Amino acid sequence: MRTLLLADIHANLPAFQSVLAAAGTWDRLVFLGDIANFGPHPAECVDLLRSLDPVCIMGNHDYLIAGAWGKRNFFDQWSREQLSDAQLGWIGSFSDLLYLEDGILAIHGAYDVPYDILPGIPADMLDAAFRGQLRPDTKTVLFGHYHYGIDCETATAAYHCIRPVGHHRDRDTRAGYSILENGTLSHYRVPYDIEKTVSDTEKMPCLSEPFKSEWISLLKNAFHDSLLQKDAETIRSYGA
Ligand SMILES: [Fe+2]
Repeated sequence: MRTLLLADIHANLPAFQSVLAAAGTWDRLVFLGDIANFGPHPAECVDLLRSLDPVCIMGNHDYLIAGAWGKRNFFDQWSREQLSDAQLGWIGSFSDLLYLEDGILAIHGAYDVPYDILPGIPADMLDAAFRGQLRPDTKTVLFGHYHYGIDCETATAAYHCIRPVGHHRDRDTRAGYSILENGTLSHYRVPYDIEKTVSDTEKMPCLSEPFKSEWISLLKNAFHDSLLQKDAETIRSYGA
């Protein structure tokens, strides 16, 4: 079976379309969460994803958009308003986690620890982050959420952060996806039409200056100083 793994589409339709064009044929699509926030194309991305009959895991942004929680900021609220009740209901049906075959866990991220999972995280912190979610037979954990490429094997399991489709902060502006086939996981990055996403972002009425400029800078460069600083502090904290 050839499984296409996607994570963190984040309402970026050109990026989503590019990975679908590059991925070729597949037997199963597993989406690891975050479909419709942080980008200009929430409804289009929801409709396209749904048309592919995927297995879907609930991301934190999916919960923000479609869940009962009302603490939404201007971006979250605008994204929610672009979606129909049927689209929101479909997002609300996503699973919190799912075991695929051979002890492979699909999950969006680990929320029960007070730190993020970024490159260089020590093995014991990685295990601790997911410990509450792991069955004894877990061999592999596939996740998204952190928007970095992470592949780490510990005594407990192999952990793989699926490269983000549409929201990048690792200095690589290309759209990411992964293929799982015959027990082998392969990661890919492909270019997409960033300028189309940028021009549509410029038209988003919910974004005011200077936030919009900073957001577009993030799209074009796949990093932003404030995020880099936050992530660098997180990575430094691993040694504390
Ligand atoms: Fe995300």
